[in-house]
Amino acid sequence: MSGKTITKPLLGALAGERQLPPPVWLMRQAGRYLPEYRALRKKAKSFLDFCFTPDLAVEATLQPLRRFSFDAAILFSDILVVPHALGQHVSFEEGEGPRLDPIRSAADFERLSAATLKERLATVFESLRRLRRELPPRVALIGFAGAPWTVAAYMVEGRGGTGFATAKKMAREEAVLFGRLVDLLVEQTIAYLSAQIEAGAEVIQIFDSWAGDLDPEQRLLWSLGPLTQIVAALQAAHPQIPVILFPRGAGESYAGYARIPGLSGLSLDSGVDLGWAAKTLQAQVALQGNLDPDLLVAGGAAMRQAIHRILEGLGQGALIFNLGHGILPQTPPEHVAELVELVRGWRG
Ligand code: CP3
Repeated sequence: MSGKTITKPLLGALAGERQLPPPVWLMRQAGRYLPEYRALRKKAKSFLDFCFTPDLAVEATLQPLRRFSFDAAILFSDILVVPHALGQHVSFEEGEGPRLDPIRSAADFERLSAATLKERLATVFESLRRLRRELPPRVALIGFAGAPWTVAAYMVEGRGGTGFATAKKMAREEAVLFGRLVDLLVEQTIAYLSAQIEAGAEVIQIFDSWAGDLDPEQRLLWSLGPLTQIVAALQAAHPQIPVILFPRGAGESYAGYARIPGLSGLSLDSGVDLGWAAKTLQAQVALQGNLDPDLLVAGGAAMRQAIHRILEGLGQGALIFNLGHGILPQTPPEHVAELVELVRGWRG
Protein backbone atom coordinates (compact mmCIF):
# COMPACT_ATOMS: atom_id res chain seq x y z
CA MET A 1 0.00 0.00 0.00
CA SER A 2 1.42 3.42 -0.95
CA GLY A 3 1.65 6.17 1.64
CA LYS A 4 -0.44 8.70 -0.29
CA THR A 5 -3.75 9.73 1.20
CA ILE A 6 -6.82 8.63 -0.71
CA THR A 7 -9.48 11.30 -0.80
CA LYS A 8 -11.98 9.80 -3.24
CA PRO A 9 -14.31 7.21 -1.67
CA LEU A 10 -14.39 5.11 -4.85
CA LEU A 11 -10.59 4.81 -4.86
CA GLY A 12 -10.62 3.96 -1.15
CA ALA A 13 -13.08 1.11 -1.71
CA LEU A 14 -11.03 -0.18 -4.65
CA ALA A 15 -7.94 -0.16 -2.41
CA GLY A 16 -9.88 -2.68 -0.30
CA GLU A 17 -10.89 -0.27 2.45
CA ARG A 18 -14.44 -0.26 3.76
CA GLN A 19 -16.00 3.19 3.26
CA LEU A 20 -18.85 4.59 5.33
CA PRO A 21 -21.11 5.35 3.59
CA PRO A 22 -20.06 3.23 0.60
CA PRO A 23 -19.43 5.08 -2.66
CA VAL A 24 -22.24 4.92 -5.20
CA TRP A 25 -22.57 5.28 -8.99
CA LEU A 26 -24.80 3.52 -11.52
CA MET A 27 -23.99 1.74 -14.74
CA ARG A 28 -25.46 3.73 -17.64
CA GLN A 29 -26.05 6.67 -15.30
CA ALA A 30 -26.06 8.95 -18.36
CA GLY A 31 -28.92 7.95 -20.61
CA ARG A 32 -32.47 8.08 -21.79
CA TYR A 33 -34.11 8.09 -18.33
CA LEU A 34 -32.96 11.74 -18.10
CA PRO A 35 -34.98 14.29 -20.11
CA GLU A 36 -31.87 16.48 -20.48
CA TYR A 37 -30.07 13.50 -22.07
CA ARG A 38 -32.88 13.00 -24.59
CA ALA A 39 -32.66 16.70 -25.50
CA LEU A 40 -28.88 16.58 -25.89
CA ARG A 41 -29.06 13.38 -27.97
CA LYS A 42 -31.09 15.27 -30.62
CA LYS A 43 -28.13 17.56 -31.27
CA ALA A 44 -26.02 14.74 -32.76
CA LYS A 45 -26.54 13.19 -36.22
CA SER A 46 -25.90 9.69 -34.91
CA PHE A 47 -25.08 7.95 -31.67
CA LEU A 48 -21.41 7.56 -32.70
CA ASP A 49 -21.20 11.29 -33.52
CA PHE A 50 -22.60 11.91 -30.05
CA CYS A 51 -19.81 9.80 -28.53
CA PHE A 52 -17.14 11.46 -30.71
CA THR A 53 -18.11 15.11 -30.09
CA PRO A 54 -16.37 16.18 -26.87
CA ASP A 55 -18.83 19.04 -26.17
CA LEU A 56 -21.72 16.55 -26.22
CA ALA A 57 -19.95 13.58 -24.59
CA VAL A 58 -18.61 15.72 -21.73
CA GLU A 59 -22.05 17.26 -21.18
CA ALA A 60 -23.76 13.81 -21.19
CA THR A 61 -21.19 12.53 -18.67
CA LEU A 62 -21.82 15.48 -16.35
CA GLN A 63 -25.63 15.54 -16.55
CA PRO A 64 -26.30 12.82 -13.95
CA LEU A 65 -23.75 14.41 -11.58
CA ARG A 66 -25.70 17.66 -11.53
CA ARG A 67 -28.77 15.82 -10.26
CA PHE A 68 -27.26 13.17 -8.01
CA SER A 69 -24.16 13.19 -5.81
CA PHE A 70 -22.53 10.14 -7.39
CA ASP A 71 -18.96 9.23 -6.44
CA ALA A 72 -17.95 8.55 -10.04
CA ALA A 73 -18.37 9.88 -13.54
CA ILE A 74 -18.20 7.30 -16.32
CA LEU A 75 -17.04 8.54 -19.68
CA PHE A 76 -19.97 8.82 -22.09
CA SER A 77 -19.11 6.47 -24.97
CA ASP A 78 -19.85 2.88 -25.92
CA ILE A 79 -18.04 -0.46 -26.01
CA LEU A 80 -18.62 -0.65 -29.79
CA VAL A 81 -16.36 2.32 -30.59
CA VAL A 82 -13.52 -0.25 -30.66
CA PRO A 83 -14.88 -2.24 -33.66
CA HIS A 84 -15.56 1.13 -35.31
CA ALA A 85 -11.93 2.14 -34.70
CA LEU A 86 -10.79 -1.15 -36.24
CA GLY A 87 -12.65 -0.22 -39.42
CA GLN A 88 -15.81 -2.31 -39.01
CA HIS A 89 -19.01 -0.52 -39.95
CA VAL A 90 -21.04 0.15 -36.76
CA SER A 91 -24.34 2.00 -36.45
CA PHE A 92 -27.03 2.39 -33.82
CA GLU A 93 -30.59 2.25 -35.08
CA GLU A 94 -33.26 4.05 -33.06
CA GLY A 95 -35.00 1.51 -30.84
CA GLU A 96 -33.14 -1.45 -32.40
CA GLY A 97 -29.69 -1.32 -30.85
CA PRO A 98 -26.33 -1.75 -32.56
CA ARG A 99 -25.81 -3.04 -36.13
CA LEU A 100 -22.40 -4.11 -37.46
CA ASP A 101 -21.28 -5.56 -40.79
CA PRO A 102 -20.61 -9.06 -39.40
CA ILE A 103 -17.23 -10.74 -39.46
CA ARG A 104 -17.75 -14.33 -40.58
CA SER A 105 -14.57 -15.30 -42.43
CA ALA A 106 -10.80 -14.88 -42.45
CA ALA A 107 -11.23 -12.39 -45.32
CA ASP A 108 -13.59 -10.26 -43.19
CA PHE A 109 -11.10 -10.41 -40.34
CA GLU A 110 -8.17 -9.38 -42.58
CA ARG A 111 -9.98 -6.17 -43.50
CA LEU A 112 -9.75 -4.91 -39.90
CA SER A 113 -6.98 -2.43 -39.29
CA ALA A 114 -4.92 -2.58 -36.10
CA ALA A 115 -3.06 0.67 -36.76
CA THR A 116 -5.82 3.27 -36.53
CA LEU A 117 -7.31 2.99 -33.05
CA LYS A 118 -5.69 5.92 -31.27
CA GLU A 119 -6.27 8.24 -34.21
CA ARG A 120 -9.92 7.22 -34.68
CA LEU A 121 -10.65 7.55 -30.97
CA ALA A 122 -8.72 10.79 -30.41
CA THR A 123 -11.87 12.73 -29.46
CA VAL A 124 -12.63 10.19 -26.70
CA PHE A 125 -9.28 11.01 -25.09
CA GLU A 126 -10.03 14.72 -25.48
CA SER A 127 -13.33 14.22 -23.59
CA LEU A 128 -11.48 12.46 -20.77
CA ARG A 129 -8.92 15.28 -20.49
CA ARG A 130 -11.71 17.84 -20.21
CA LEU A 131 -13.66 15.79 -17.69
CA ARG A 132 -10.65 15.33 -15.47
CA ARG A 133 -10.30 19.13 -15.28
CA GLU A 134 -13.99 19.74 -14.59
CA LEU A 135 -14.93 17.10 -12.03
CA PRO A 136 -15.36 17.96 -8.35
CA PRO A 137 -12.55 16.58 -6.13
CA ARG A 138 -14.52 13.68 -4.57
CA VAL A 139 -15.66 12.30 -7.93
CA ALA A 140 -13.52 9.64 -9.64
CA LEU A 141 -13.35 9.41 -13.42
CA ILE A 142 -14.02 5.93 -14.84
CA GLY A 143 -12.81 4.90 -18.29
CA PHE A 144 -14.09 1.67 -19.82
CA ALA A 145 -14.07 -0.86 -22.61
CA GLY A 146 -15.92 -4.01 -23.50
CA ALA A 147 -14.24 -7.34 -22.81
CA PRO A 148 -12.88 -9.24 -25.85
CA TRP A 149 -15.62 -11.91 -25.72
CA THR A 150 -18.51 -9.41 -25.53
CA VAL A 151 -17.08 -7.15 -28.25
CA ALA A 152 -16.20 -10.13 -30.48
CA ALA A 153 -19.74 -11.47 -30.02
CA TYR A 154 -21.18 -8.24 -31.48
CA MET A 155 -18.52 -8.17 -34.23
CA VAL A 156 -19.35 -11.69 -35.41
CA GLU A 157 -23.09 -11.63 -34.82
CA GLY A 158 -23.55 -8.13 -36.24
CA ARG A 159 -26.19 -7.30 -33.64
CA GLY A 160 -27.33 -8.02 -30.09
CA GLY A 161 -30.40 -9.70 -28.64
CA THR A 162 -29.83 -13.01 -30.43
CA GLY A 163 -28.09 -15.16 -27.82
CA PHE A 164 -24.97 -14.84 -30.02
CA ALA A 165 -25.42 -18.28 -31.60
CA THR A 166 -23.16 -17.46 -34.59
CA ALA A 167 -20.36 -16.13 -32.41
CA LYS A 168 -20.55 -19.17 -30.12
CA LYS A 169 -20.46 -21.47 -33.14
CA MET A 170 -17.37 -19.69 -34.52
CA ALA A 171 -15.71 -19.88 -31.08
CA ARG A 172 -16.24 -23.68 -31.02
CA GLU A 173 -15.85 -24.67 -34.66
CA GLU A 174 -13.38 -22.08 -35.96
CA ALA A 175 -11.39 -21.53 -32.81
CA VAL A 176 -8.25 -20.45 -34.70
CA LEU A 177 -10.03 -17.62 -36.50
CA PHE A 178 -12.02 -16.63 -33.42
CA GLY A 179 -8.79 -16.73 -31.39
CA ARG A 180 -7.13 -14.31 -33.81
CA LEU A 181 -10.05 -11.91 -33.36
CA VAL A 182 -9.88 -12.20 -29.56
CA ASP A 183 -6.09 -11.72 -29.59
CA LEU A 184 -6.50 -8.57 -31.69
CA LEU A 185 -9.09 -7.29 -29.22
CA VAL A 186 -6.82 -8.05 -26.24
CA GLU A 187 -4.02 -6.02 -27.81
CA GLN A 188 -6.26 -3.16 -28.93
CA THR A 189 -8.15 -3.00 -25.63
CA ILE A 190 -4.88 -2.73 -23.71
CA ALA A 191 -3.80 0.16 -25.98
CA TYR A 192 -7.23 1.83 -25.74
CA LEU A 193 -7.44 1.60 -21.94
CA SER A 194 -3.83 2.71 -21.48
CA ALA A 195 -4.55 5.78 -23.59
CA GLN A 196 -7.68 6.47 -21.51
CA ILE A 197 -5.54 6.33 -18.35
CA GLU A 198 -3.00 8.69 -19.91
CA ALA A 199 -5.87 11.07 -20.73
CA GLY A 200 -7.07 11.09 -17.11
CA ALA A 201 -9.15 7.99 -16.33
CA GLU A 202 -8.55 7.08 -12.66
CA VAL A 203 -10.41 3.74 -12.65
CA ILE A 204 -11.07 1.25 -15.45
CA GLN A 205 -14.17 -0.91 -15.79
CA ILE A 206 -14.31 -3.73 -18.34
CA PHE A 207 -17.80 -4.90 -19.33
CA ASP A 208 -18.17 -8.58 -20.16
CA SER A 209 -21.93 -8.28 -20.41
CA TRP A 210 -22.35 -11.61 -22.21
CA ALA A 211 -19.94 -13.74 -20.13
CA GLY A 212 -23.03 -15.65 -18.95
CA ASP A 213 -23.76 -16.89 -22.48
CA LEU A 214 -20.66 -19.10 -22.45
CA ASP A 215 -20.42 -22.48 -20.73
CA PRO A 216 -17.76 -22.66 -17.99
CA GLU A 217 -15.13 -24.21 -20.27
CA GLN A 218 -15.60 -21.68 -23.10
CA ARG A 219 -15.76 -18.91 -20.47
CA LEU A 220 -12.26 -19.79 -19.25
CA LEU A 221 -10.98 -19.69 -22.82
CA TRP A 222 -12.68 -16.57 -24.19
CA SER A 223 -13.54 -14.48 -21.13
CA LEU A 224 -11.36 -15.20 -18.10
CA GLY A 225 -8.16 -15.85 -20.09
CA PRO A 226 -8.21 -12.66 -22.21
CA LEU A 227 -9.29 -10.57 -19.21
CA THR A 228 -6.36 -11.95 -17.18
CA GLN A 229 -4.02 -10.80 -19.96
CA ILE A 230 -5.55 -7.32 -20.09
CA VAL A 231 -5.43 -6.84 -16.31
CA ALA A 232 -1.79 -8.01 -16.22
CA ALA A 233 -0.75 -5.58 -18.97
CA LEU A 234 -2.57 -2.63 -17.38
CA GLN A 235 -1.18 -3.51 -13.98
CA ALA A 236 2.36 -3.56 -15.40
CA ALA A 237 2.00 -0.22 -17.20
CA HIS A 238 -0.23 1.60 -14.69
CA PRO A 239 0.03 -0.14 -11.31
CA GLN A 240 -1.81 2.65 -9.50
CA ILE A 241 -5.00 2.39 -11.60
CA PRO A 242 -7.64 -0.01 -10.22
CA VAL A 243 -9.56 -2.28 -12.60
CA ILE A 244 -13.15 -3.48 -12.09
CA LEU A 245 -14.53 -6.40 -14.13
CA PHE A 246 -18.19 -7.07 -14.85
CA PRO A 247 -18.53 -10.69 -16.01
CA ARG A 248 -22.32 -10.54 -16.06
CA GLY A 249 -24.06 -13.87 -15.56
CA ALA A 250 -20.86 -15.74 -14.68
CA GLY A 251 -22.49 -17.44 -11.66
CA GLU A 252 -20.05 -19.48 -9.61
CA SER A 253 -17.25 -18.60 -12.03
CA TYR A 254 -17.19 -15.19 -10.32
CA ALA A 255 -14.80 -16.97 -7.92
CA GLY A 256 -12.31 -17.52 -10.78
CA TYR A 257 -12.42 -13.85 -11.82
CA ALA A 258 -11.81 -12.78 -8.18
CA ARG A 259 -8.46 -14.61 -8.32
CA ILE A 260 -7.16 -12.67 -11.36
CA PRO A 261 -3.83 -11.21 -10.18
CA GLY A 262 -3.94 -7.42 -9.84
CA LEU A 263 -7.72 -7.12 -10.07
CA SER A 264 -9.29 -4.54 -7.70
CA GLY A 265 -13.06 -4.95 -8.09
CA LEU A 266 -15.82 -7.21 -9.35
CA SER A 267 -19.21 -5.89 -10.42
CA LEU A 268 -21.95 -8.36 -9.45
CA ASP A 269 -25.09 -8.95 -11.49
CA SER A 270 -28.38 -9.10 -9.59
CA GLY A 271 -28.42 -12.90 -9.62
CA VAL A 272 -25.37 -13.26 -7.37
CA ASP A 273 -26.16 -14.31 -3.79
CA LEU A 274 -24.93 -11.68 -1.32
CA GLY A 275 -23.88 -14.09 1.43
CA TRP A 276 -21.92 -16.25 -1.02
CA ALA A 277 -20.24 -13.18 -2.56
CA ALA A 278 -19.25 -11.70 0.83
CA LYS A 279 -17.76 -15.03 1.92
CA THR A 280 -16.16 -16.15 -1.35
CA LEU A 281 -15.10 -12.98 -3.17
CA GLN A 282 -14.79 -10.00 -0.84
CA ALA A 283 -11.49 -11.02 0.79
CA GLN A 284 -9.87 -10.76 -2.65
CA VAL A 285 -11.60 -7.80 -4.33
CA ALA A 286 -13.95 -4.90 -3.66
CA LEU A 287 -17.53 -5.77 -4.65
CA GLN A 288 -19.78 -3.55 -6.72
CA GLY A 289 -23.50 -4.00 -7.17
CA ASN A 290 -26.04 -5.33 -7.41
CA LEU A 291 -29.56 -3.86 -7.20
CA ASP A 292 -31.90 -5.25 -9.85
CA PRO A 293 -32.53 -2.40 -12.36
CA ASP A 294 -36.23 -3.41 -12.42
CA LEU A 295 -36.47 -2.61 -8.71
CA LEU A 296 -35.11 0.87 -9.40
CA VAL A 297 -37.91 1.27 -11.95
CA ALA A 298 -40.49 -0.01 -9.42
CA GLY A 299 -39.27 2.03 -6.44
CA GLY A 300 -41.12 1.94 -3.12
CA ALA A 301 -40.73 -0.56 -0.29
CA ALA A 302 -39.38 -3.37 -2.48
CA MET A 303 -36.57 -1.11 -3.71
CA ARG A 304 -35.77 0.15 -0.21
CA GLN A 305 -35.63 -3.38 1.22
CA ALA A 306 -33.36 -4.59 -1.57
CA ILE A 307 -31.01 -1.61 -1.07
CA HIS A 308 -30.78 -2.41 2.63
CA ARG A 309 -30.15 -6.09 1.98
CA ILE A 310 -27.17 -5.15 -0.22
CA LEU A 311 -25.83 -2.64 2.31
CA GLU A 312 -26.15 -5.18 5.15
CA GLY A 313 -24.90 -8.09 3.05
CA LEU A 314 -21.82 -6.50 1.47
CA GLY A 315 -21.30 -3.30 3.47
CA GLN A 316 -19.13 -4.92 6.15
CA GLY A 317 -16.32 -5.00 3.59
CA ALA A 318 -15.23 -2.92 0.59
CA LEU A 319 -18.48 -2.13 -1.27
CA ILE A 320 -19.33 0.16 -4.19
CA PHE A 321 -23.08 0.51 -4.45
CA ASN A 322 -24.38 0.03 -8.00
CA LEU A 323 -26.97 -1.83 -10.05
CA GLY A 324 -26.65 -5.40 -11.30
CA HIS A 325 -26.85 -4.10 -14.90
CA GLY A 326 -27.41 -0.78 -16.66
CA ILE A 327 -30.16 1.62 -15.64
CA LEU A 328 -33.33 1.19 -17.73
CA PRO A 329 -34.74 4.05 -19.86
CA GLN A 330 -38.11 3.91 -18.04
CA THR A 331 -36.49 4.57 -14.62
CA PRO A 332 -38.01 7.56 -12.77
CA PRO A 333 -35.15 9.95 -11.85
CA GLU A 334 -36.78 10.42 -8.38
CA HIS A 335 -36.05 6.77 -7.62
CA VAL A 336 -32.38 7.35 -8.39
CA ALA A 337 -32.38 10.33 -6.00
CA GLU A 338 -33.94 8.16 -3.28
CA LEU A 339 -31.39 5.38 -3.85
CA VAL A 340 -28.47 7.79 -3.46
CA GLU A 341 -30.02 9.27 -0.29
CA LEU A 342 -30.52 5.82 1.25
CA VAL A 343 -26.95 4.74 0.53
CA ARG A 344 -25.52 8.03 1.81
CA GLY A 345 -27.62 7.82 4.96
CA TRP A 346 -26.48 4.30 5.84
CA ARG A 347 -24.33 4.21 8.97
CA GLY A 348 -23.41 0.52 8.96
O1 CP3 B 1 -23.46 6.18 -18.55
C1 CP3 B 1 -22.72 5.26 -18.87
O2 CP3 B 1 -22.70 4.15 -18.30
C2 CP3 B 1 -21.67 5.49 -19.95
C3 CP3 B 1 -22.03 5.16 -21.27
C4 CP3 B 1 -22.23 3.73 -21.78
C5 CP3 B 1 -23.07 3.47 -22.89
N1 CP3 B 1 -22.92 2.16 -23.25
C6 CP3 B 1 -23.91 4.46 -23.56
C7 CP3 B 1 -25.05 4.03 -24.42
C8 CP3 B 1 -21.62 2.52 -21.42
C9 CP3 B 1 -20.67 2.21 -20.27
C10 CP3 B 1 -22.06 1.54 -22.36
C11 CP3 B 1 -21.60 0.14 -22.34
C12 CP3 B 1 -22.22 -0.85 -23.26
N2 CP3 B 1 -22.66 -0.66 -24.54
C13 CP3 B 1 -22.36 -2.22 -22.96
C14 CP3 B 1 -21.92 -2.89 -21.68
C15 CP3 B 1 -22.85 -2.62 -20.54
C16 CP3 B 1 -24.18 -3.31 -20.64
O3 CP3 B 1 -25.17 -2.56 -20.64
O4 CP3 B 1 -24.23 -4.53 -20.71
C17 CP3 B 1 -22.96 -2.84 -24.07
C18 CP3 B 1 -23.33 -4.31 -24.18
C19 CP3 B 1 -23.13 -1.84 -25.07
C20 CP3 B 1 -23.66 -2.02 -26.45
C21 CP3 B 1 -24.86 -1.20 -26.69
N3 CP3 B 1 -24.87 0.19 -26.81
C22 CP3 B 1 -26.20 -1.64 -26.85
C23 CP3 B 1 -26.63 -3.09 -26.78
C24 CP3 B 1 -26.98 -0.51 -27.07
C25 CP3 B 1 -28.45 -0.49 -27.41
C26 CP3 B 1 -29.28 -0.83 -26.24
C27 CP3 B 1 -29.70 0.43 -25.55
O5 CP3 B 1 -29.57 0.50 -24.32
O6 CP3 B 1 -30.19 1.30 -26.27
C28 CP3 B 1 -26.15 0.63 -27.00
C29 CP3 B 1 -26.55 2.05 -27.15
C30 CP3 B 1 -26.22 2.98 -26.03
N4 CP3 B 1 -25.01 3.05 -25.39
C31 CP3 B 1 -27.08 3.95 -25.45
C32 CP3 B 1 -26.35 4.61 -24.45
C33 CP3 B 1 -26.80 5.74 -23.58
C34 CP3 B 1 -28.51 4.25 -25.90
C35 CP3 B 1 -28.50 4.85 -27.27
C36 CP3 B 1 -29.22 6.17 -27.40
O7 CP3 B 1 -29.22 7.02 -26.51
O8 CP3 B 1 -29.76 6.37 -28.48
